[in-house]
Amino acid sequence: TNEQLALPVGITLDRFIMRNQEAFPFASGELSQLLRDIALAGKIINREINRAGLSDITGQLGSQNVQGETQQKLDVIADIRFIRALKNGGEVCAIISEEATEVILTGNNHAKYIVAIDPLDGSSNIDTNVSIGTIFSVYRRRSEIGTEPTEEDFLQRGNKQVASGYLLYGSSTILVYTTGKGVNGFTYDYSLGEFFLSHPQIQISQDGEIYSCNEGYKSDFSDAVQHYLEECKQKRFSSRYIGSLVADFHRNLLKGGIYMYPATRKTPNGKLRLLYECFPLAFIIEQAGGKASDGKQRILDIFPTDLHQRSAFYVGSGKMVDTVENYINN
Ligand code: AHG
Ligand code: MN
Ligand code: MN
Ligand code: MN
Repeated sequence: TNEQLALPVGITLDRFIMRNQEAFPFASGELSQLLRDIALAGKIINREINRAGLSDITGQLGSQNVQGETQQKLDVIADIRFIRALKNGGEVCAIISEEATEVILTGNNHAKYIVAIDPLDGSSNIDTNVSIGTIFSVYRRRSEIGTEPTEEDFLQRGNKQVASGYLLYGSSTILVYTTGKGVNGFTYDYSLGEFFLSHPQIQISQDGEIYSCNEGYKSDFSDAVQHYLEECKQKRFSSRYIGSLVADFHRNLLKGGIYMYPATRKTPNGKLRLLYECFPLAFIIEQAGGKASDGKQRILDIFPTDLHQRSAFYVGSGKMVDTVENYINN
């Protein structure tokens, strides 16, 4: 059955997962356990982030990741925490991460799930106490259970995702995810160490009056995108850009709006990574009634050929994504 379970605000994440699993008699509990493992990693990272200034884990590590980005200490700490939680949880046979060049094998070769993660999104904001996040995407492996997973396992269209979500370490810490039966948000109560359902069955408004993009790169944008920006300004829409994709995405999800990261001179294929930024958020936005496009096609229809490939990204209220697509394609 695909209908969403209407569960009361305030139940714990654990009970929510259990009730949803009961609704699926054939569910064997592995995905439920995987989601618990992700929530655990989120609690651990949340604690690290909240103490970052006190424990010398801010600032740069002095290394670069496969993207050629300078890694922040917390990028790598979050990466290690997630990989360890998923490895120990036993439900995941392989992981790809923004912070790792190659596929990470967990050794759980009998596990049927694989995970793509952006362990810490919005790194440029870590040291300035601005909201940051984690983004994750879950697929069934393509390779035989019991064999060693390979890169091919990860080269699947976005519409093959089994689950996806994000953690937002903001004024409060919340976990938002979907398993294809709607989108639900859980707020973390650190005094109890539990996530509680706080945003049941999130739906984004069809239209919105908030646009979110880095206008510093405006001169690099296509004429079409610049015309769309002009329209937003003519209509006195509100411009909001936090510089953490998760924070900008979440605000638009709750208030309506569009987030755009078009191709620029510096990033001719777009900056955001398809497998662990665009795909997971596209799954969420569609489950919440919105849209996600690369300007020409639905993000979830794209067939990836490289683990770290990038894409232009237009995501949010359906009418706003339609409008910017019309500018681009006419
Ligand atoms: P990450 O920190 O995981 O590398 O992602 C950063 C992304 C995204 O979070 C954010 O919206 C965008 O980069 C900001 O890019 P600009 O600084 O170019 O605007
Ligand atoms: Mn990111
Ligand atoms: Mn990141
Ligand atoms: Mn990065």
